[in-house]
Amino acid sequence: MKKYLVTGGAGFIGSAVAAKLLNQGNEVVIIDNLSTGYLQNIPDGATFIEGNCEDEHIVNKLNKQTFNAIYHIAGQSSGEISYDNPVLDMQANVQSTLVLLKYAVETGCKTFIYASSMSVYGDAQKLPVCETDTTIPKSFYAVGKLASEHYLRIYQSFGIKTIALRLFNVYGVGQNLKNLRQGMASIYLAQALQTNRILVKGSTDRFRDFVYITDVVNSFLTSAQSNIPSGVYNVCYGDKTHVGQILELISNQLSTMTEISIIDSTPGDQFGIYGDPTLFEKTFGFKNEISFQNGMIKMIAWAKNNI
Ligand SMILES: NC(=O)c1ccc[n+]([C@@H]2O[C@H](COP(=O)([O-])OP(=O)(O)OC[C@H]3O[C@@H](n4cnc5c(N)ncnc54)[C@H](O)[C@@H]3O)[C@@H](O)[C@H]2O)c1
Repeated sequence: MKKYLVTGGAGFIGSAVAAKLLNQGNEVVIIDNLSTGYLQNIPDGATFIEGNCEDEHIVNKLNKQTFNAIYHIAGQSSGEISYDNPVLDMQANVQSTLVLLKYAVETGCKTFIYASSMSVYGDAQKLPVCETDTTIPKSFYAVGKLASEHYLRIYQSFGIKTIALRLFNVYGVGQNLKNLRQGMASIYLAQALQTNRILVKGSTDRFRDFVYITDVVNSFLTSAQSNIPSGVYNVCYGDKTHVGQILELISNQLSTMTEISIIDSTPGDQFGIYGDPTLFEKTFGFKNEISFQNGMIKMIAWAKNNI
Protein backbone atom coordinates (compact mmCIF):
# COMPACT_ATOMS: atom_id res chain seq x y z
CA MET A 1 0.00 0.00 0.00
CA LYS A 2 1.33 3.45 -0.92
CA LYS A 3 0.99 6.46 1.34
CA TYR A 4 0.33 10.02 0.14
CA LEU A 5 0.10 13.45 1.73
CA VAL A 6 -2.58 15.63 0.16
CA THR A 7 -2.69 19.21 1.38
CA GLY A 8 -5.92 21.07 0.74
CA GLY A 9 -7.84 17.79 0.87
CA ALA A 10 -10.95 19.55 2.22
CA GLY A 11 -11.11 21.75 -0.89
CA PHE A 12 -12.47 21.20 -4.39
CA ILE A 13 -9.41 19.75 -6.15
CA GLY A 14 -7.62 18.26 -3.12
CA SER A 15 -10.66 16.28 -1.97
CA ALA A 16 -11.14 14.81 -5.46
CA VAL A 17 -7.44 13.83 -5.66
CA ALA A 18 -7.57 12.29 -2.17
CA ALA A 19 -10.77 10.37 -2.98
CA LYS A 20 -9.26 8.83 -6.10
CA LEU A 21 -6.06 7.84 -4.28
CA LEU A 22 -8.14 6.18 -1.55
CA ASN A 23 -10.31 4.40 -4.14
CA GLN A 24 -7.16 2.91 -5.60
CA GLY A 25 -6.35 1.39 -2.21
CA ASN A 26 -3.77 3.88 -1.00
CA GLU A 27 -3.36 5.50 2.40
CA VAL A 28 -3.96 9.27 2.47
CA VAL A 29 -3.13 11.93 5.04
CA ILE A 30 -4.69 15.36 4.59
CA ILE A 31 -3.62 18.72 6.00
CA ASP A 32 -6.14 21.54 5.61
CA ASN A 33 -6.92 24.65 7.64
CA LEU A 34 -10.59 24.67 6.52
CA SER A 35 -10.31 28.32 5.42
CA THR A 36 -12.23 27.60 2.20
CA GLY A 37 -12.54 23.82 2.52
CA TYR A 38 -15.13 21.81 4.43
CA LEU A 39 -14.89 18.87 6.81
CA GLN A 40 -17.59 17.06 4.85
CA ASN A 41 -15.38 17.16 1.72
CA ILE A 42 -12.73 15.01 3.39
CA PRO A 43 -13.15 11.53 1.95
CA ASP A 44 -13.83 8.61 4.28
CA GLY A 45 -10.70 6.74 5.17
CA ALA A 46 -8.32 9.73 5.06
CA THR A 47 -6.39 10.78 8.16
CA PHE A 48 -7.03 14.48 8.78
CA ILE A 49 -4.74 17.05 10.40
CA GLU A 50 -6.33 20.48 10.80
CA GLY A 51 -4.03 23.49 10.46
CA ASN A 52 -1.83 25.61 8.23
CA CYS A 53 0.69 23.86 5.98
CA GLU A 54 3.13 26.71 6.54
CA ASP A 55 3.23 26.05 10.31
CA GLU A 56 6.05 23.68 11.19
CA HIS A 57 4.24 22.57 14.36
CA ILE A 58 1.37 21.34 12.18
CA VAL A 59 3.71 19.58 9.74
CA ASN A 60 5.48 18.00 12.74
CA LYS A 61 2.20 16.20 13.48
CA LEU A 62 3.07 13.98 10.51
CA ASN A 63 5.63 12.37 12.86
CA LYS A 64 8.31 12.17 10.16
CA GLN A 65 6.44 9.51 8.16
CA THR A 66 7.69 9.09 4.60
CA PHE A 67 5.19 9.51 1.78
CA ASN A 68 5.41 8.01 -1.71
CA ALA A 69 4.48 11.49 -2.91
CA ILE A 70 3.37 14.82 -1.51
CA TYR A 71 0.55 16.55 -3.36
CA HIS A 72 0.69 20.18 -2.27
CA ILE A 73 -2.71 21.46 -3.33
CA ALA A 74 -3.64 23.64 -0.34
CA GLY A 75 -3.45 27.34 -0.84
CA GLN A 76 -5.20 30.63 -0.89
CA SER A 77 -6.84 29.99 -4.24
CA SER A 78 -8.07 33.39 -5.42
CA GLY A 79 -6.19 36.15 -7.26
CA GLU A 80 -8.79 38.66 -6.09
CA ILE A 81 -8.47 37.65 -2.42
CA SER A 82 -4.67 37.88 -2.58
CA TYR A 83 -5.13 41.67 -2.61
CA ASP A 84 -6.94 41.59 0.77
CA ASN A 85 -3.80 40.40 2.56
CA PRO A 86 -0.70 39.76 0.43
CA VAL A 87 1.29 38.58 3.46
CA LEU A 88 -1.27 35.89 4.27
CA ASP A 89 -1.32 34.90 0.61
CA MET A 90 2.47 34.54 0.60
CA GLN A 91 2.38 32.41 3.76
CA ALA A 92 -0.34 30.10 2.42
CA ASN A 93 1.08 29.80 -1.09
CA VAL A 94 4.86 30.17 -0.75
CA GLN A 95 5.96 29.51 2.82
CA SER A 96 3.81 26.36 2.86
CA THR A 97 5.66 25.05 -0.21
CA LEU A 98 9.06 25.60 1.39
CA VAL A 99 8.05 23.97 4.68
CA LEU A 100 6.72 20.92 2.82
CA LEU A 101 9.73 20.66 0.48
CA LYS A 102 11.98 20.71 3.55
CA TYR A 103 9.82 17.98 5.09
CA ALA A 104 10.16 15.93 1.90
CA VAL A 105 13.97 16.12 2.02
CA GLU A 106 14.10 15.31 5.74
CA THR A 107 11.86 12.26 5.41
CA GLY A 108 13.15 10.83 2.11
CA CYS A 109 10.04 11.61 0.06
CA LYS A 110 11.15 11.63 -3.59
CA THR A 111 8.12 13.06 -5.41
CA PHE A 112 6.54 16.47 -4.87
CA ILE A 113 3.59 17.65 -6.95
CA TYR A 114 2.36 21.20 -6.75
CA ALA A 115 -0.87 22.95 -7.78
CA SER A 116 0.48 25.93 -9.68
CA SER A 117 -1.58 28.18 -11.90
CA MET A 118 -1.84 29.63 -15.40
CA SER A 119 -1.84 33.02 -13.64
CA VAL A 120 2.00 32.85 -13.62
CA TYR A 121 1.98 33.89 -17.31
CA GLY A 122 0.25 37.24 -16.70
CA ASP A 123 -0.80 38.92 -19.94
CA ALA A 124 0.45 36.40 -22.47
CA GLN A 125 2.54 37.76 -25.34
CA LYS A 126 1.25 35.04 -27.64
CA LEU A 127 -1.57 32.50 -27.51
CA PRO A 128 -1.87 29.67 -26.75
CA VAL A 129 0.75 29.92 -24.00
CA CYS A 130 3.31 27.17 -23.62
CA GLU A 131 5.55 26.35 -20.70
CA THR A 132 8.65 28.09 -22.11
CA ASP A 133 6.83 31.42 -22.59
CA THR A 134 7.62 34.46 -20.46
CA THR A 135 6.06 34.60 -17.00
CA ILE A 136 5.12 38.06 -15.71
CA PRO A 137 2.64 37.47 -12.87
CA LYS A 138 0.06 40.25 -12.41
CA SER A 139 -1.33 39.46 -8.95
CA PHE A 140 0.12 38.69 -5.51
CA TYR A 141 -1.40 35.23 -5.92
CA ALA A 142 0.43 34.64 -9.20
CA VAL A 143 3.75 35.86 -7.79
CA GLY A 144 3.38 33.30 -5.01
CA LYS A 145 2.65 30.47 -7.44
CA LEU A 146 5.68 31.36 -9.57
CA ALA A 147 7.92 31.66 -6.50
CA SER A 148 6.82 28.18 -5.42
CA GLU A 149 7.64 26.80 -8.87
CA HIS A 150 11.18 28.16 -8.52
CA TYR A 151 11.56 26.63 -5.04
CA LEU A 152 10.48 23.30 -6.55
CA ARG A 153 13.13 23.66 -9.26
CA ILE A 154 15.86 24.36 -6.74
CA TYR A 155 14.80 21.40 -4.58
CA GLN A 156 15.38 19.06 -7.54
CA SER A 157 19.07 19.34 -6.66
CA PHE A 158 18.22 17.54 -3.37
CA GLY A 159 17.17 14.49 -5.37
CA ILE A 160 13.43 15.12 -5.38
CA LYS A 161 11.31 14.87 -8.51
CA THR A 162 9.18 18.02 -8.56
CA ILE A 163 6.25 18.73 -10.79
CA ALA A 164 4.34 22.01 -11.03
CA LEU A 165 0.98 21.64 -12.72
CA ARG A 166 -0.07 24.99 -14.16
CA LEU A 167 -3.80 24.53 -13.76
CA PHE A 168 -6.00 26.62 -16.03
CA ASN A 169 -9.63 27.21 -14.98
CA VAL A 170 -10.70 24.10 -13.11
CA TYR A 171 -14.46 23.55 -12.77
CA GLY A 172 -16.94 20.77 -12.21
CA VAL A 173 -19.00 18.71 -9.83
CA GLY A 174 -17.95 19.37 -6.23
CA GLN A 175 -16.79 22.96 -6.75
CA ASN A 176 -17.53 25.38 -3.93
CA LEU A 177 -20.69 27.25 -4.90
CA LYS A 178 -20.53 29.39 -1.76
CA ASN A 179 -17.20 31.01 -2.63
CA LEU A 180 -18.17 33.89 -4.89
CA ARG A 181 -14.59 35.14 -5.23
CA GLN A 182 -12.93 32.12 -6.82
CA GLY A 183 -13.86 30.04 -9.89
CA MET A 184 -15.33 31.87 -12.88
CA ALA A 185 -17.84 29.21 -13.99
CA SER A 186 -18.89 28.32 -10.44
CA ILE A 187 -19.43 31.97 -9.48
CA TYR A 188 -21.68 32.68 -12.49
CA LEU A 189 -23.58 29.44 -12.00
CA ALA A 190 -24.13 30.02 -8.26
CA GLN A 191 -25.36 33.56 -8.90
CA ALA A 192 -27.72 32.42 -11.65
CA LEU A 193 -29.19 29.70 -9.44
CA GLN A 194 -29.46 31.86 -6.32
CA THR A 195 -30.60 35.24 -7.65
CA ASN A 196 -31.14 34.86 -11.40
CA ARG A 197 -28.68 37.72 -11.78
CA ILE A 198 -25.01 37.41 -12.77
CA LEU A 199 -22.50 40.08 -11.86
CA VAL A 200 -19.59 40.03 -14.32
CA LYS A 201 -16.38 41.66 -13.10
CA GLY A 202 -14.83 42.86 -16.38
CA SER A 203 -15.70 42.44 -20.03
CA THR A 204 -17.73 39.54 -21.42
CA ASP A 205 -15.07 39.34 -24.17
CA ARG A 206 -12.54 37.96 -21.69
CA PHE A 207 -11.67 34.32 -22.23
CA ARG A 208 -10.28 31.34 -20.36
CA ASP A 209 -9.32 27.69 -20.86
CA PHE A 210 -11.57 25.40 -18.80
CA VAL A 211 -10.39 21.99 -17.66
CA TYR A 212 -12.76 19.57 -15.98
CA ILE A 213 -12.09 18.23 -12.47
CA THR A 214 -11.80 14.55 -13.45
CA ASP A 215 -9.17 15.42 -16.06
CA VAL A 216 -7.28 17.44 -13.43
CA VAL A 217 -7.39 14.53 -10.97
CA ASN A 218 -5.95 12.21 -13.65
CA SER A 219 -3.15 14.72 -14.23
CA PHE A 220 -2.25 14.78 -10.53
CA LEU A 221 -2.24 10.99 -10.24
CA THR A 222 -0.24 10.45 -13.43
CA SER A 223 2.36 13.03 -12.28
CA ALA A 224 3.54 10.66 -9.57
CA GLN A 225 4.40 7.89 -12.07
CA SER A 226 8.12 7.30 -12.46
CA ASN A 227 8.09 7.96 -16.24
CA ILE A 228 6.99 11.59 -15.76
CA PRO A 229 10.06 13.80 -15.36
CA SER A 230 10.42 16.88 -13.16
CA GLY A 231 9.06 19.98 -14.81
CA VAL A 232 6.32 22.48 -15.31
CA TYR A 233 3.23 21.42 -17.26
CA ASN A 234 0.15 23.23 -18.54
CA VAL A 235 -3.00 21.44 -17.43
CA CYS A 236 -5.54 22.81 -19.86
CA TYR A 237 -8.02 21.74 -22.50
CA GLY A 238 -6.34 23.91 -25.14
CA ASP A 239 -9.42 25.85 -26.14
CA LYS A 240 -10.71 29.33 -25.40
CA THR A 241 -14.14 30.03 -23.97
CA HIS A 242 -15.38 33.62 -23.72
CA VAL A 243 -17.28 34.87 -20.69
CA GLY A 244 -20.22 35.59 -23.01
CA GLN A 245 -20.32 31.90 -24.05
CA ILE A 246 -20.38 30.79 -20.40
CA LEU A 247 -23.32 33.10 -19.66
CA GLU A 248 -25.19 31.84 -22.71
CA LEU A 249 -24.60 28.21 -21.81
CA ILE A 250 -25.82 28.75 -18.25
CA SER A 251 -28.92 30.63 -19.40
CA ASN A 252 -29.76 27.95 -21.97
CA GLN A 253 -29.27 25.08 -19.55
CA LEU A 254 -31.33 26.77 -16.82
CA SER A 255 -33.94 27.88 -19.40
CA THR A 256 -34.13 31.30 -17.77
CA MET A 257 -33.48 34.89 -18.82
CA THR A 258 -30.64 35.62 -16.40
CA GLU A 259 -29.98 39.34 -15.82
CA ILE A 260 -26.35 40.29 -16.52
CA SER A 261 -24.64 43.29 -14.87
CA ILE A 262 -21.10 44.29 -15.77
CA ILE A 263 -18.80 46.08 -13.33
CA ASP A 264 -15.06 46.89 -13.21
CA SER A 265 -12.65 43.98 -13.41
CA THR A 266 -10.76 42.76 -10.35
CA PRO A 267 -7.13 43.83 -9.86
CA GLY A 268 -4.54 41.54 -11.42
CA ASP A 269 -7.08 39.86 -13.70
CA GLN A 270 -5.74 38.55 -17.01
CA PHE A 271 -7.87 39.60 -19.99
CA GLY A 272 -7.66 36.39 -21.95
CA ILE A 273 -5.58 33.24 -21.86
CA TYR A 274 -5.62 29.67 -23.10
CA GLY A 275 -2.94 27.04 -23.02
CA ASP A 276 -0.96 24.80 -25.32
CA PRO A 277 -1.33 21.23 -24.00
CA THR A 278 1.34 19.72 -26.34
CA LEU A 279 4.05 19.13 -23.72
CA PHE A 280 1.52 17.71 -21.27
CA GLU A 281 -0.02 15.36 -23.85
CA LYS A 282 3.36 14.13 -25.10
CA THR A 283 4.68 13.49 -21.59
CA PHE A 284 1.54 12.21 -19.85
CA GLY A 285 0.31 10.18 -22.81
CA PHE A 286 -3.29 11.39 -22.79
CA LYS A 287 -5.43 14.41 -23.68
CA ASN A 288 -7.77 16.08 -21.26
CA GLU A 289 -11.03 14.82 -22.59
CA ILE A 290 -14.05 16.69 -21.20
CA SER A 291 -15.13 19.67 -23.33
CA PHE A 292 -16.44 22.79 -21.61
CA GLN A 293 -19.94 22.22 -22.98
CA ASN A 294 -20.11 18.63 -21.66
CA GLY A 295 -18.48 19.48 -18.34
CA MET A 296 -20.85 22.38 -17.70
CA ILE A 297 -23.89 20.24 -18.45
CA LYS A 298 -22.74 17.77 -15.76
CA MET A 299 -21.93 20.59 -13.34
CA ILE A 300 -25.23 22.42 -13.84
CA ALA A 301 -27.24 19.22 -13.26
CA TRP A 302 -25.32 18.66 -10.01
CA ALA A 303 -25.46 22.31 -8.89
CA LYS A 304 -29.27 22.49 -9.17
CA ASN A 305 -29.51 20.00 -6.28
CA ASN A 306 -26.49 21.16 -4.31
CA ILE A 307 -26.80 24.94 -3.98
N1 LIG B 1 -9.66 25.96 -9.12
C1 LIG B 1 -8.87 26.46 -10.06
O1 LIG B 1 -9.33 26.85 -11.15
C2 LIG B 1 -7.39 26.56 -9.85
C3 LIG B 1 -6.59 27.05 -10.89
C4 LIG B 1 -5.22 27.17 -10.69
C5 LIG B 1 -4.67 26.77 -9.49
N2 LIG B 1 -5.46 26.31 -8.49
C6 LIG B 1 -4.83 25.93 -7.23
O2 LIG B 1 -5.27 24.63 -6.85
C7 LIG B 1 -5.34 24.55 -5.44
C8 LIG B 1 -6.71 24.05 -5.02
O3 LIG B 1 -7.70 24.95 -5.48
P1 LIG B 1 -9.24 24.66 -5.28
O4 LIG B 1 -9.95 25.17 -6.46
O5 LIG B 1 -9.46 23.28 -4.82
O6 LIG B 1 -9.56 25.68 -4.10
P2 LIG B 1 -10.19 25.44 -2.66
O7 LIG B 1 -10.24 26.78 -2.03
O8 LIG B 1 -11.44 24.64 -2.77
O9 LIG B 1 -9.11 24.52 -1.95
C9 LIG B 1 -8.02 25.02 -1.23
C10 LIG B 1 -7.94 24.23 0.07
O10 LIG B 1 -6.75 24.60 0.78
C11 LIG B 1 -7.08 24.89 2.13
N3 LIG B 1 -6.08 25.85 2.59
C12 LIG B 1 -5.93 27.13 2.18
N4 LIG B 1 -4.84 27.68 2.76
C13 LIG B 1 -4.30 26.71 3.52
C14 LIG B 1 -3.17 26.65 4.37
N5 LIG B 1 -2.37 27.71 4.52
N6 LIG B 1 -2.90 25.50 5.02
C15 LIG B 1 -3.72 24.42 4.91
N7 LIG B 1 -4.81 24.42 4.12
C16 LIG B 1 -5.09 25.55 3.44
C17 LIG B 1 -8.51 25.41 2.08
O11 LIG B 1 -9.19 25.27 3.32
C18 LIG B 1 -9.11 24.53 0.99
O12 LIG B 1 -9.63 23.33 1.53
C19 LIG B 1 -5.00 25.93 -4.90
O13 LIG B 1 -3.64 25.95 -4.52
C20 LIG B 1 -5.23 26.83 -6.09
O14 LIG B 1 -4.43 27.99 -6.04
C21 LIG B 1 -6.80 26.19 -8.63
